[in-house]
Amino acid sequence: MLISDKIEAEFNRQIGNELGNSHQYYAIAAYFEKEALFGLAKIYTKQADEEREHAMKFVKFLLDAGATPKFPAVAAPRNDFSSAVDAAQVAYDSEVRTTEQIYALVDLALAEKNHIASNFLQWFVSEQLEEVASADTRLNVIRRAGPSVLMVEAYLAHQ
Ligand SMILES: [Fe+2]
Ligand SMILES: [Fe+2]
Repeated sequence: MLISDKIEAEFNRQIGNELGNSHQYYAIAAYFEKEALFGLAKIYTKQADEEREHAMKFVKFLLDAGATPKFPAVAAPRNDFSSAVDAAQVAYDSEVRTTEQIYALVDLALAEKNHIASNFLQWFVSEQLEEVASADTRLNVIRRAGPSVLMVEAYLAHQ
């Protein structure tokens, strides 16, 4: 096995975190779908799919490293949102939290001088920059639209 038991355990935990993010994005997408904001629903569904891919990257890495993927329980997402801003804020917060989780994993890999794990995690470090930036942009656009969230749909149609 190319990684320690500790890294194996933490990576397995991150599988649950990424799947939790996926659940959260599907819940947000469902909220927008219910609000008939289909452009936003589509964006968050795509995000949800991407989070599943993130989880599967950890699964593949564990297998490649000779470790054992163990899928943990996935936390229930928030299903009730008071507004579009609220939903976009939940998404933004979850990306900030994920960035902290990835940093902690990098810290662990570096502490153990495990360059295979640390190199694998660099993809996630770059990804988080994009994820936080796009979540921030979406939150700002939705916030600026205020009560006329429909404007956001028109904005998205021109992107
Ligand atoms: Fe992710
Ligand atoms: Fe993400």
